[in-house]
Formats: sequence, structure tokens, C-alpha cells
Amino acid sequence: MTKILFLDQSGKPGGAELCLLDIAKPYQDSCLVGLFADGEFKQLLEKQHIPVEILATKAIEVRKGSSLTQGLSSLGQLLPLINRVATLSRNYDLIYANTQKALVVGAIASFVSRRPLVYHLHDILSLDHFSAINRRIAVNLANRAALVIANSQASQAAFIAAGGRKDIVEFVYNGFDLGSYQNLPAATKIKQELGIDEDKFVAGHFSRLSPWKGQHILLEALTHCPENITALLVGDALFGEQDYVQKLHAQVAELNLGHRVKFLGFRDDVQSLMAACDMVTHTSTVAEPFGRVIVEAMLCGTPVVATSAGGAQELIEPGKTGWLVAPGNVTELAAAINDCINQPEQSACMAQAANLQAIQRFDVAAINQQIAKLLSRVVNI
Ligand code: UDP
Ligand code: GLC
Repeated sequence: MTKILFLDQSGKPGGAELCLLDIAKPYQDSCLVGLFADGEFKQLLEKQHIPVEILATKAIEVRKGSSLTQGLSSLGQLLPLINRVATLSRNYDLIYANTQKALVVGAIASFVSRRPLVYHLHDILSLDHFSAINRRIAVNLANRAALVIANSQASQAAFIAAGGRKDIVEFVYNGFDLGSYQNLPAATKIKQELGIDEDKFVAGHFSRLSPWKGQHILLEALTHCPENITALLVGDALFGEQDYVQKLHAQVAELNLGHRVKFLGFRDDVQSLMAACDMVTHTSTVAEPFGRVIVEAMLCGTPVVATSAGGAQELIEPGKTGWLVAPGNVTELAAAINDCINQPEQSACMAQAANLQAIQRFDVAAINQQIAKLLSRVVNI
């Protein structure tokens, strides 16, 4: 079994971390996940019996959105960490960086220890998401890797467009444990637990609360939908976006939506909640690199609408497996929700088609085989 030192900067379970959880699992007897911050993600790894260690000797400022230049300017602070990773990595066949700061640390450590570097790119390196300088640094460091795994064709294309090497980048979608979508509790039971009347149409939103995830667009769309539609906002501000949380609450008050919106915070029972929703809405205002929540909705058999940019376009065939609407477009989103309510049979058919397709495309066992094959190429160079 390939011996892998995985690196991730976050202690919090964002999508990239949940993806890593599934990738590291088959290597649980021969890997270590090194985190740069403590948090719930560590507990999730431990629960799955995946070896994990917090590698940062003192807390480094870890924010998902904090820039690479900030990362580099704190290089002095990072040195002990790089040193530790370089030493540790001598016991492993490769270093697998799962986030941008992990790339900075992993790239330098790999140079020192002469272990190959793999970078899992979970971002779209466009100017919507990154400053030009941060993008350049990320691409330059990633170009030193033996392999870059992009989480979608959109992320792969953006990497190449930004100067990334074509010969080292492959795309592999996130995989999902199909077993965890079986025997989900009945929608009525979940609605009851949440205190939502059975006759309400529930539009769910499952994302960290962050401006580009566009929860505010869903709130506004509600004002264009019938009264019996309730929105369920599942997720928390994982990476310091407290201002946005305040804004969302203010928006609910201003639009008089208090009786139609529920904030549930971060939940670890997303599957059950999604299965209880009548529709899952994805509302990112800029290109979503992949969009785990879209696939999860499909696996739950719940109709899904997403914004037509980035990875989401690779997941949904509009009119066949869901709805795609323009990012930031309230009217289109409201129209898709109204469509779903008014055409229940057609919506159910689409959800069923989406479910079958998702089972075929995103089985974690098959995805992990793809990754293993790519990694064996790296180790055998
Ligand atoms: N998620 C969760 N609990 C929540 C909200 C979200 O477990 O309260 C999960 C969600 O099911 C998905 C991930 O967080 O697996 C978010 O990944 P996605 O790719 O959709 O977006 P990201 O936040 O990584 O950009
Ligand atoms: C990142 C992206 C998200 C993707 C996830 C897993 O967090 O923002 O789109 O689904 O990584 O690859």
C-alpha cells in the first residue's frame, strides 16, 4: 500500500476536507493526515480510524480565504512546520497537499525531502476567487508537483488557463459512500422534528454561510414564491464570515421572512435533512469548483437546482437531471422553485434520473480506484 502523508490546513470540515476523508480511508494503515489547525475535522478522521496529527507547533492564522501572499509572508512562522513535514515525509512515499497552504508547505518540504508532491486542487483559479498574484504563486508551486488532481473539468481548465502544466493535471470527481444514502428516515419524521408542517414545501440550502455561496439569493427568491415555501439553511460560517451571517439575519427580518426561514447551523446528518427537503437549492454566485451538495441531493433523490457555472454544469443536465439557473439571478431561481412545485411528477422523474446517474458516476469505490491508479504512476516514476 502506498504510504501517504496527507496535508490539510483546516481543522474544520469544509468540502475539501470531507473529500479527503474518503480519499484517505483506504490508506488508513499506511498514512498520516497532518493538519495545520485543530478542530472537528480531526475528530471526524479519528472516528474513521484514520491517523491524524496536528502539525503546527503554534496556531498559524488559518482561514480558508486567507491569501497565499499572507501565507508566504508568514513563512518565518511556517518554517518549523515545513521542517516537521520534511522530516515526517521521509517515512512516506509521497506528500499529498489538499489545500493551498498545504501546497506551500508541501512543495517546500517535498523539495527538501525529495518526496514527490501531489496536489489536490479543489479551487477554480479564476480572478473571481483569487487575486492575480495569489493565482500565480499557486500555479507556480503546483507546477512543481508530480501530479495535480483537479476536482472537476472546470477546475482543470482554469488551472491550465492560469499557466498550469497540462501534462500533470487530471480531473477526478469527488466520490460518495452510496451506502450512507440508504434507509434514510421518512421526510414526515424529519419535518416533525424540525417543527415544519407537513404541507410546507421545503427548499433546502446546504453550504457554509459565505457570500459567494449565495444564501441571500435564496432568501430574496422566496419573496417571489408562494407563502407555503419554507427555506432551510443548513451550514455555518466555517471560515470567519460572521458579517455575512448577521446580514442574512437582517435580510430575513427586513423581508419579513422570519416564519419561512430556519437556520439550522452546521449539521452532520445532511443526508436525512436533504431527503426531507422537496428541493435542494445551490446558489453560488461565482463558479463552483465541484459542488458536493449537488451530488448529495441527487443521491438522496431530491430535485436540485444549481447555478450554471463551473463544476455544477458537469453535474446537471438541465431539464433531465435538474435545473441550472444563472448565478445571482433571483428571478430564474424563483422560477425553478415554482416549476418544481407546480410539476411534481416531472420533478420526481428528473430526481430519479439524477439519482441513477449519480450512483453510476460518483461511487467512492470507483473514484478511489481512479486516484490509486494515478498515485501509482507518481510513486513509480
Ligand atoms: N455540509 C455538512 N453540514 C452542513 C453543511 C454542509 O456536512 O451543515 C457538507 C455538505 O454536505 C458537503 C460539504 O459540507 O458535503 C460542502 O461541500 P461543497 O463542495 O458543496 O462546498 P464547499 O463548502 O466545499 O465549497
Ligand atoms: C471545495 C470547493 C467545492 C468542492 C469541494 C470538494 O471546497 O469549493 O466546490 O466541491 O472543494 O472538492
